[in-house]
Amino acid sequence: MSAGILILMLNAVPDISQTKYKYVGVNTCTGVCHNSESQGDQYIIWKESAHSKAYKTLQTIQADSIASSKGFTSPASETPECVRCHTIGKIPDESEFQASFDITQGVQCESCHGPGSGYKSGSIMRDKDKAVKNGLILHTEKRKFCITCHNSESPTYFEFNYEPMWEMIAHSKPKESE
Ligand code: HEC
Ligand code: HEC
Ligand code: HEC
Repeated sequence: MSAGILILMLNAVPDISQTKYKYVGVNTCTGVCHNSESQGDQYIIWKESAHSKAYKTLQTIQADSIASSKGFTSPASETPECVRCHTIGKIPDESEFQASFDITQGVQCESCHGPGSGYKSGSIMRDKDKAVKNGLILHTEKRKFCITCHNSESPTYFEFNYEPMWEMIAHSKPKESE
C-alpha cells in the first residue's frame, strides 16, 4: 500500500481521544443562567462544594508531598495524573479549551455534563433533547459516574458512599419551574 493511501485512511479515522465540542468554563454556564433560586442555585451549590476547590487543593504542600510519595517529580498541580481527576476527569488537552475556560476552577459543570460549546446557547439549552444532541450529558447511573473519579486510584481515597455524597452536591432543577 502506498504511503499516500495510508495517510488518507488515517485521516478518515475519527479521533475519539478528542470530542468535537470545547470546554467553555463554569462562568459561561452560570453567568446568565444556572445562577438563581428559580433555576436551582447550581452556581452557589457548586461554588461552596469541594469540587470548585479541587484544583487549588493540588497547589498545596500536602498535595506536592503526596505526588512525590507516588514517585512524581513535578508539583501536583503540574502532574497530569493528579490534574485529571481534579479538573475534567481526563488528562487535559488545551486544544479543547476555549479562552473562557479556567482550569483552576477545578471540577466544574462541564467535568460532569460534558464540554458545552455546542449546547451552551439558551435556545438549545431550553430544549433538553436538543441539548443532549449537542453534547449535554445527563446521568441516569449517577453512582457509576461518580466513581470514575471517586475510586482507589485516588491517593487519599475513602469509601464512596453515594447517597450522602450526592446530598452534599445535589443541585436539581426545582420541579415547579420546569
Ligand atoms: C472529575 C472527577 C470527579 C467526579 C466525576 C466526581 N467527583 Fe466528587 N470530588 C472530586 C475531587 C477531586 C474531590 C476532592 C476535591 C478537594 O477536596 O479538593 C471531590 C470531592 C467530593 C465531595 C466532597 C467530599 C468531602 O468530604 O468533602 C463530594 C460530596 C463529592 N465529591 C461528590 C461527588 C458526587 C456525588 C459525584 C457524582 C455525581 C462526584 N463527586 C463526581 C472529583 C470528582
Ligand atoms: C460532580 C458532577 C457534577 C457537577 C460538578 C455538576 N453537576 Fe449538574 N448534575 C450532576 C448529576 C449527576 C445530576 C443529576 C442527573 C442528571 O440529571 O444529569 C445533575 C443535574 C443537574 C441539573 C438538573 C437537570 C434536571 O433535568 O433536573 C442541572 C440544571 C445541572 N446539573 C446543572 C449544573 C451546573 C450549571 C453545574 C455547574 C455550576 C453543575 N451542574 C455541576 C452532576 C454534576
Ligand atoms: C482517580 C481520581 C484521582 C486521582 C488520580 C487523584 N485524585 Fe486527589 N482526590 C480525588 C478525590 C475523589 C478526592 C476526594 C477524597 C477521596 O475520595 O480521595 C481527592 C482528594 C485529594 C486531596 C484532598 C485530601 C483531603 O484530605 O482533603 C489531595 C491533597 C489530593 N487529592 C491530591 C492528589 C494528588 C497529589 C494526586 C496525584 C498524585 C491525586 N490527588 C490524584 C481523586 C483523585
